[in-house]
Amino acid sequence: MMHTSERWMARKPVAHFEADQQRGGLRRILGKWSLTSLGIGHIIGAGIFVMTGLAAREYAGPALALSFVVAGLGCAAAGLCYAEMASLLPVEGSAYAYAYATVGELFAWIIGWDLLLEYAMGASTVAVGWSGYLAKLLALFHVHLPLWLMHDPHTAQALLTQATGQGTLDQLAQRYSDLTLPSVAGLRLAFNLPAFLIIGVITAVLVRGIREAAGTNLVMVVVKLAVVLFVIIAGAKFVDPANWSPFIPTPHSNDHGEEAFGWGGIVAGAAYVFFAYIGFDAVSTQAGEARRPRQDVPFGILASLCICTVLYIGVSLVLTGMVPYTELDITAPIADAFARRGLAWAVWIISIAAVAGLTSVLLVTLLAQSRVLYAMAKDGLMPQRIFGVLHPRFITPYRGTLLTGLLTAIVAALTPIELIAKLVNIGTLLAFVMVCVAVWRMRLKEPHLHRPFRVRALPVVATLGIVFNLGMMLSLAWENWARLAAWLLLGLVVYFFYGRHRSVLQKSTAPPPPLTTVS
Ligand code: ALA
Repeated sequence: MMHTSERWMARKPVAHFEADQQRGGLRRILGKWSLTSLGIGHIIGAGIFVMTGLAAREYAGPALALSFVVAGLGCAAAGLCYAEMASLLPVEGSAYAYAYATVGELFAWIIGWDLLLEYAMGASTVAVGWSGYLAKLLALFHVHLPLWLMHDPHTAQALLTQATGQGTLDQLAQRYSDLTLPSVAGLRLAFNLPAFLIIGVITAVLVRGIREAAGTNLVMVVVKLAVVLFVIIAGAKFVDPANWSPFIPTPHSNDHGEEAFGWGGIVAGAAYVFFAYIGFDAVSTQAGEARRPRQDVPFGILASLCICTVLYIGVSLVLTGMVPYTELDITAPIADAFARRGLAWAVWIISIAAVAGLTSVLLVTLLAQSRVLYAMAKDGLMPQRIFGVLHPRFITPYRGTLLTGLLTAIVAALTPIELIAKLVNIGTLLAFVMVCVAVWRMRLKEPHLHRPFRVRALPVVATLGIVFNLGMMLSLAWENWARLAAWLLLGLVVYFFYGRHRSVLQKSTAPPPPLTTVS
């Protein structure tokens, strides 16, 4: 047994990861373009289709493209660090596994717990966005659902209160078949049914297996890329350069004490649209299923990140050029920009693609989540009987997938999107900062380990990653920090009462083998 003082710093040796891999389990079927496609499937989603409107209107103005550049730079630096770590440790578990090998168990636990925010809460966020676009699509067919079945209780009540105050209940009534909210014991009820159901469907696909999941994902990625390109090319014709002036509006502080416009607003906008980039790191969670993980995982991470960055900059320039930023719609800004130009057929295309696109994001997000939990269960930090058991026929961690699906569906049905989106961002930014620190530390402590992918000028890249990602965290309002702190505190309680006592590494009586050079 280890001494208490050593416990929290215990590092999982690279040789142990390799033994885990050799014991097998998951099927190695993914090549480099499948991994890139999984990355794109996870990246392009609610961030570009939904959040761009609010980001330009409230934070960056026409300089939204610069927000995407700032967020993209932070992600590129973190992405390079992820790629080096993924090439060094080609295992499922992502940043969690990297931290376990480099900094120690407690740090790894914190990252794993933090990743729950990114993946599980990220999936809930996207499901809510999906539900909004589904409503747009159904409305094109003149199908309307009751208000209480389309939103969480807070949002449903807020919509009613706002419409009553502005005398626009008639307009609201055109969007829903019924405006009454049922109540039990004085409590108004509402439930985002589409968000709940879509997570149920995706969970069923994932339980069936990765081959099906990757195939389904590929079709959706093609649709999504085609439509984003369509938006850039078709929208470019309608750009009025007058809408870009002034490109960076005069700065001021908003009601939450955040910076709006100016350079501060560009960074605050970056912290918000950062959500649009989340996902490239999920490629690294697929290392356990990659055919040549050392080469293909870094490729998948960087390729998917580069492709999406270029597309995002294009879409932001077109969007802010088509519509004055003060008039951008905040629920479906891209579809709305085309509707304003009278291009109803384009609204159809964009809405269908958004529904498909957000579906593919959900698919990869929930997939990544179950793999991180699987890795933590193998290490004894999460219950093995729930998260560590593979289905005998489908070879997927089905129990964990089902449980994660149920919890994220409930959160999606009952929580407002703005609240979860910012929590996801701050949690993910923290994970990125930690990975930059971990990869640098690993280089210093274990300089001789074989690294098929090495970041050039690592101190510069890691420092940039830390500065950009921390800078974005700092631009978020204090409530988000408080929520993050509460979440991490809860994680620590779980670790000290559960994981610490069941850790496989800490139960092992043999001294861990030294880190070996893997070549
Ligand atoms: N990047 C993903 C999205 O924008 C999470 O939906």
